Amino acid sequence: MTSERAGTFVPKPLPPGDLVLDEGLLLLLSKADTALARLDGVIQVLPNPDLFVTMYIQKEALLSSQIEGTQASLRGVLEFEADLEPGEDINEVREVVNYIKAMGHGMEKLEFSEFSINLLNEIHRFLIQGSRGGSRKPGTIRTEQNWIGVAGTPIQDALYVPPPPEKVPELMQNLEEFIQQSDKIPLLIKASLIHAQFESIHPYVDGNGRMGRLLITFFLYYKGMLLKPLLYPSFYLKKHQQEYYQILNDVRYDGNWEKWIAFFLTGVIETSTDSVETAKKIIDLRSGLVKTLLEKNIGGVIALKFIDVLFETPLITVSRAADTLGVSRQTANALVKKFENARIIAEITGNKRYKRYVFSEYLRIIQEGTYR
Ligand SMILES: Nc1ncnc2c1ncn2[C@@H]1O[C@H](COP(=O)(O)OP(=O)(O)O)[C@@H](O)[C@H]1O
Ligand SMILES: [Mg+2]
Repeated sequence: MTSERAGTFVPKPLPPGDLVLDEGLLLLLSKADTALARLDGVIQVLPNPDLFVTMYIQKEALLSSQIEGTQASLRGVLEFEADLEPGEDINEVREVVNYIKAMGHGMEKLEFSEFSINLLNEIHRFLIQGSRGGSRKPGTIRTEQNWIGVAGTPIQDALYVPPPPEKVPELMQNLEEFIQQSDKIPLLIKASLIHAQFESIHPYVDGNGRMGRLLITFFLYYKGMLLKPLLYPSFYLKKHQQEYYQILNDVRYDGNWEKWIAFFLTGVIETSTDSVETAKKIIDLRSGLVKTLLEKNIGGVIALKFIDVLFETPLITVSRAADTLGVSRQTANALVKKFENARIIAEITGNKRYKRYVFSEYLRIIQEGTYR
């Protein structure tokens, strides 16, 4: 071992040999299982589950990227997705958009292929390519030593030094086997082990945090525990970021897996409960709007359809509304006016032309927790 390698840490293959699931952990596990099942249930009764999922993926992508320091906001992402020029740094927004693409690609592939390191590499390419980290070897396992610490500090001052590059292929191979194998470890606990192990290996030059968080959702979806990609850990992990990093270190240096598992399961409970609340708010908002349309005499199938369009693209222009609804510009314009007068949407540019409208009440619901 050369001296600069002295501080590297090589994690043992999973599962940890001495894992003890005491009563406290089992209780948390059962609560987390229930919370997740409840979420799956609420989604079934949503007017349009796919819209909810789309919105959630956007939010998770943003929060997970924010943990890594992205400066983008939800509004910037929605502007980009609506083909509008974002009013903020496009590179920041692109990072989040990449994340959304990476998630989509992974989900699609997992429907008919095995979970593999190759697939992870493919997803990593989607995540990193063309963004700020684009030069940092998209889709490739690292061949150099990396370390975690305050940006710009030398390896000697690192908080954590992952395994040397020559160990990484074997460690990833172990992780792949652990992911694929069927065993008796409860899935949520397994997901937590996989995330921590992935972060310890730190297999890429960049993007390890985001890939590791995507891995949680991918794994649960792959094993059939989630029917839709619905569990989003970043809301919780961002809120408890320091603790998150600290506990990852405790796993390594004290072998304290139990503390990490408890932290993770608590996150699953919090996130799922929060998502159920959000879903309920959305259901209420939608039925409230239908009532408003009736009261204000804004009738017609098109008006109802416009509501769903707004849930899909809460930032919109008249021409986009016309396109999605398949109506003339005049019809769309009249409808937008009526919705504006009913205070369902509001114009945000103050311009005479190129007006943009925002469905603010909805945005307020989904924006929660995304402020920096
Ligand atoms: N002490 C630590 N040990 C292991 N992993 C850590 C530690 N602290 C932070 N991390 C993980 O490393 C991630 C940052 O790694 P990085 O490759 O820069 O990912 P990204 O590019 O997605 O930001 C964090 O989000 C976290 O998941
Ligand atoms: Mg990074």
